[in-house]
Amino acid sequence: MYNYRMVTDDLYWVGADDHRLALFENIHPLYHGVSYNAYVLMDEKTVLFDSADWAVGRQFITNVKAVLAGRSLDYMVINHVEPDHAASIEEILLRWPDVKIITTPKAVTLLNQFGFNLDPNKVDVVKEGDTRCFGRHTIAFLYAPMVHWPEVMVSFDTTNGVLFSADAFGSFRALDGKLFADEVNFDREWLDEARRYYTNIVGKYGPQVMALLNKAAGAVGLENIKFLCPLHGPVWRKDLDYIIDKYTHWATYKPEEKGVMIVYASMYGNTEAAAEVLAAKLAARGITNTRLYDVSGTHVSYLISDMFKYSHLVLASVTYNLGIFPPMHNFLMDMKALNLQNRTVALMGSGSWAPRSGVLMREELEKLKNIRILDDEMTVTSSLKVDNESEINALADSIAASLNE
Ligand code: FEO
Repeated sequence: MYNYRMVTDDLYWVGADDHRLALFENIHPLYHGVSYNAYVLMDEKTVLFDSADWAVGRQFITNVKAVLAGRSLDYMVINHVEPDHAASIEEILLRWPDVKIITTPKAVTLLNQFGFNLDPNKVDVVKEGDTRCFGRHTIAFLYAPMVHWPEVMVSFDTTNGVLFSADAFGSFRALDGKLFADEVNFDREWLDEARRYYTNIVGKYGPQVMALLNKAAGAVGLENIKFLCPLHGPVWRKDLDYIIDKYTHWATYKPEEKGVMIVYASMYGNTEAAAEVLAAKLAARGITNTRLYDVSGTHVSYLISDMFKYSHLVLASVTYNLGIFPPMHNFLMDMKALNLQNRTVALMGSGSWAPRSGVLMREELEKLKNIRILDDEMTVTSSLKVDNESEINALADSIAASLNE
């Protein structure tokens, strides 16, 4: 059975949800599924925008066929060739062998690397700013390198303001029938997963995301974008400023909120107890926008996501093999890989002999851009004791003062 939805009077969503995938990119846990979005424009010519992961290929093809209703498929625009969107291309080529592909030169290279062996006579390679007219609709193509791969472009329908934005403005979570962001409570149900998607998948490429936003503003005018049609997650047709503002914060590494994320690494509960004491002391100072995480029991994608949300971070880690506790070290490496910057950090090292984690975490943080490390770093030997109260009070005071700056 087909399962498509209308986006405009002649544009259809033909994607599909996947609730069975456990790990996106075989790394990031999915507890609410994911959608693979593709779109068909029914103009004088028919145009498919992207395809879908092979896991949902049958539903995707069924949807395309149902929308075409016996017409042939004339064009396929490929904005992004990562296999979660390109894996079903071969099936499209087999079913509609006359279809002409519109894409970037780099996409052709990558598609051939993936083994699609495209017929050059059936590929229309577009340059930055090129347009193609399909009848009533004229589509402009803008390159968007590294959002999230080097071959990426976005496609803008100059006729009705639809932006096919590739991975940009995407999100984890399956649609479950509700295609539009205004059909859900986005703040409550989607924002955390949208942030987790952006920060972990595209977070490294903030400058490139800003370049795309600035390019779109210059080339088409942000006010002329009426629909955002990403490759994952809901379509935006209202309140576009809301999601563009979120993206601007994330892409410029600007915190969304003043608040404190406390991440602890604890083997036997002593560092955990110290982190809890600090959280209570912060609350006693009126600082309640805090989140406390056990680094061992929290997938790093969630830590990265909240790290992009909050202004302040406390890292409390036990020393392990004279180094940083491995899951905490992994978190620090991920922060670096994803280019995290512009945060204030407080440190608490711990250990029973030769506690070095505080010093070592500082060294890792100093490799990041524009990270302010508070001076009142403290070290816990085996367990926090009443004797340490002045130190932990100083740490809480220092965090509070920094939040109130
Ligand atoms: Fe959803 Fe970069 O692929």
